[in-house]
Amino acid sequence: MLNIVNKLIENKSIEKDEMIYLLKNRDISIDKILADKASEIRNNNFGNKIYIRGLIEFTNYCKNGCYYCGINKSNKNAQRYRLTKQEILECCKQGYSFGFRSFVLQGGEDNFYSDRDIEDLVYSIKEKYDDCAVTLSIGEKSYESYLAYFNAGADRYLLRHETADPNHYKMLHPKDMSLENRKKCLYNLKEIGYQTGCGFMVGSPYQSFENIAEDIEFIKELKPHMIGIGPFISHKDTIFSEFKNGSAELTLFLLSILRIMMPRVLLPATTALATLDPMGREKGILAGANVLMPNLSPVSVRKKYSLYDNKICTSDEAAECNMCLRNRVKSIGCEIVEQRGDYSEE
Ligand code: 5AD
Ligand code: FES
Repeated sequence: MLNIVNKLIENKSIEKDEMIYLLKNRDISIDKILADKASEIRNNNFGNKIYIRGLIEFTNYCKNGCYYCGINKSNKNAQRYRLTKQEILECCKQGYSFGFRSFVLQGGEDNFYSDRDIEDLVYSIKEKYDDCAVTLSIGEKSYESYLAYFNAGADRYLLRHETADPNHYKMLHPKDMSLENRKKCLYNLKEIGYQTGCGFMVGSPYQSFENIAEDIEFIKELKPHMIGIGPFISHKDTIFSEFKNGSAELTLFLLSILRIMMPRVLLPATTALATLDPMGREKGILAGANVLMPNLSPVSVRKKYSLYDNKICTSDEAAECNMCLRNRVKSIGCEIVEQRGDYSEE
């Protein structure tokens, strides 16, 4: 066991079987060794800087039926909404005044928006805030669409792969979705030149340690610039409502593994992690994360963007979260910075 941990710490790659062994046999003392190493690596690469991304959840309409997700098309209880361009720009304005220099436009896969609409949104934000990065997170699109958004000024794209095992993928998604297309999208995004993010849920239904080791293998192969991982949290109106939540501890362990394997990667301590553990963001940073993605959506719609139950900060104004996060980050000796926080090799 310790020789696997030592290999990791000495920056030697470990085999998939060794990763599975580690996943099965880790304990708090191993977690601590890895978190300390990951924190040291984060510190060597980014100092005490924490990057923030303002998340704007601009539509919760979705044409997909992902079994885990509260805004999937079959959930008749979801109250659907779309923000207007004006409202979106208002979120950016507020975010900019708080020091955000990076915005994430996230939504369900909503065909209401044409490519021209998305291009126009991206272009309008970049026009007003030319020192900010714009990230899209709107799902699977064609190469041509991704290229059009990129040419309109989009800098980054988040598309979690969700699981790198095709059989597991089928257990989480309806027949009309495939891991093959999802991976294709990720490679297309990289090829076009986006800073690209993949990721997966920890403890999603039917997930095995083998699956997680597979996710890590896929991440090594894709070499993303960003990785989003958070625990699965059940949503009452989905067919997975009776499944138990993922583990915050395992999520923290995986954050450390990812930081150690990919020292420069942009790695958020996610809202899902902070939903399961009130100290999730602090613990996430201390385990190697260097990004936070607070919500900038208007409070009036926040509860409606309900991917999972009990999501935090849904009744807090953006200004409250802004202060809260700054204090939390300060309490562990780090500092939120007013920068885009682009991926770089050095
Ligand atoms: N629990 C945790 N994360 C979820 N996501 C969707 N539904 C859930 C859930 N029930 C994650 C998916 C998606 C991202 C936007 O949110 O990984 O890619
Ligand atoms: Fe929203 Fe603390 S981050 S209240």
